[in-house]
Amino acid sequence: MKEEIYKKKKQTGDHAPNLDDYAKVASEFTWKDARPYVDWFDGSLNAAYNAVDRHVQTWRKNKVALYWEDEAGNEKKYTFDELSLLSNKVGNLLKDFGVERGDRVFLFLPRIPELYFSFLGILKIGAIAGTLFSAFQEQALCDRLENSGAKVLLTTRDLKSRVDAIRKKLPELKHILVVDEPTFTKSVEKSSDVLHIAQTDPDDYAFMLYTSGTTGKPKGVVHSHRAVVQEHMTARWVLDLRDEDTYWCTADPGWVTGIAYEILGSWSNGVAALVYAGRFDPDRWYTLLDKYNVTVWYTAPTAIRMLMAAGQDLVKKHNLSHLRHLCSVGEPLNPEAIRWGLKVFGLAFHDTWWQTETGAICIANYPCMDIKIGSMGKPVPGLTASIVDDKGQDLGINKEGNIALKPKWPSMMHTIWRRPQKYQSYFTNGWYLSGDRGMLDKDGYFWFIGRADDVIKTSGERVGPFEVESALVAHPAVVEAGVIGKPDAMRGEIIKAFVVLEKSVLESTKTKAAQEKLKEELSQYVKKHLAGHAYPREIEFIDKLPKTRSGKIMRRILKAKELGLPVGDTSTLEDY
Ligand code: WT7
Repeated sequence: MKEEIYKKKKQTGDHAPNLDDYAKVASEFTWKDARPYVDWFDGSLNAAYNAVDRHVQTWRKNKVALYWEDEAGNEKKYTFDELSLLSNKVGNLLKDFGVERGDRVFLFLPRIPELYFSFLGILKIGAIAGTLFSAFQEQALCDRLENSGAKVLLTTRDLKSRVDAIRKKLPELKHILVVDEPTFTKSVEKSSDVLHIAQTDPDDYAFMLYTSGTTGKPKGVVHSHRAVVQEHMTARWVLDLRDEDTYWCTADPGWVTGIAYEILGSWSNGVAALVYAGRFDPDRWYTLLDKYNVTVWYTAPTAIRMLMAAGQDLVKKHNLSHLRHLCSVGEPLNPEAIRWGLKVFGLAFHDTWWQTETGAICIANYPCMDIKIGSMGKPVPGLTASIVDDKGQDLGINKEGNIALKPKWPSMMHTIWRRPQKYQSYFTNGWYLSGDRGMLDKDGYFWFIGRADDVIKTSGERVGPFEVESALVAHPAVVEAGVIGKPDAMRGEIIKAFVVLEKSVLESTKTKAAQEKLKEELSQYVKKHLAGHAYPREIEFIDKLPKTRSGKIMRRILKAKELGLPVGDTSTLEDY
């Protein structure tokens, strides 16, 4: 297949990218060189101070940091100074509630302004912030709050009922603060806006996020304050953020992108950021790009494909001429999406690769570098990436293997909360193995091939099959369930469940109509107990699941059958 290359013209003067010679910087740069880009207190480092407070010492004090708008059209804006003062107030309030360094404070909030300044406030007192996606339901919340041992939870009136239902199971949770209750707003008002910012060690824990693997409960990936170093540098090099930009990252801080590039790395560069607290809607998205004169836009392939489906006429109704740089993350960026971007915006989406565990962008396409369409680009300067086999042996070029990174990089996770062995299992022969398969070409570009495990990526969101299976099995009609990601043109993958029904249920659901009704009920059940985004869009009833003799569900066999592919080695299978 002939490579399709999008050639970049060399930009100079005001148009020169922040990183204007990838090869040169990649060959010379070490992380020590990043020191002057962030503010240190004598060797200690606070990520939230870097995101916001340091700008208050400069001309950026009264610059707008956050333009906020919700679905109903309510608008707010906050300067760096305001974010600094509000986060100080929340920090002081949390101290009044007994929060100390190292305590976990969780945020179960939609994308309201309180989420942003509370996150910063938590880091500023040296506590650990945890974010919970607002679509989570009881089971997902319980797993995360229980494992983290969160002491305080901030939520809204609407979301609180889900927490009330599981409160009994959370002995370590001491306080629930409801940010839209007058008691909270009054306490924040009264609270002092002067705060001594914790002089945290760069390796002190700052925030944590739960993410899914193939088996078991979600894992608490813990990051330290040092992460801001790489988040800052990549926001600068890859997103190419500048003072005059208005930047829009469409991610939710319930996921790592929303923390690294909507709070820490982006604000640390002093950029004005837009947050839209609403659902995806093509016309509304274009309206926002137009209205706020967005220049740099960081989004995800599923959203791009949905915009493509909404058609080009819609784009033409809006003035998007101020857009200058587009980036994408979370799942493979298909070449058609890049070609479409070039056609309708005159700009190429720049693919970036990273993970919750890596804490910041690790492989990327840079404004100064030609894009091989379909490739994820090259390693961030300061990082070593390679393709290795399962034993951690470097495979060199043109071979399929594990995408691996050489530890440590500044934003590398520090541990898996309360599961040190799980953390160790990521490393083999001096490499961090990402769980992704890929290939490296002769020019140093990385290509994504697929996951090495059963982790599902649906609309860019990572879902563990085990969590969905467990939720299904909790329904009285279900004996067993096996869950896979099924390729989908729009969402990348959708969740498909194979379900074995109770005998009596099986007998009473012989008709197609009864089966459809039950499938709908099961989907809703998962939605209601686990999460709004993690439910099976397809369910198939089967008699028996393929299993190993030790009883492990063989999802790869379900997947191969679904796709009509050869099932491969079945010698370890139980009689099937
Ligand atoms: C997984 C990590 C990192 C921010 C959001 C996702 C997949 C990520 C790409 C890309 C193909 C990608 C990988 C990875 N992924 N970026 N550019 N091309 N796949 O974080 O939820 O931890 O998911 O997302 O499979 O392992 P996450």
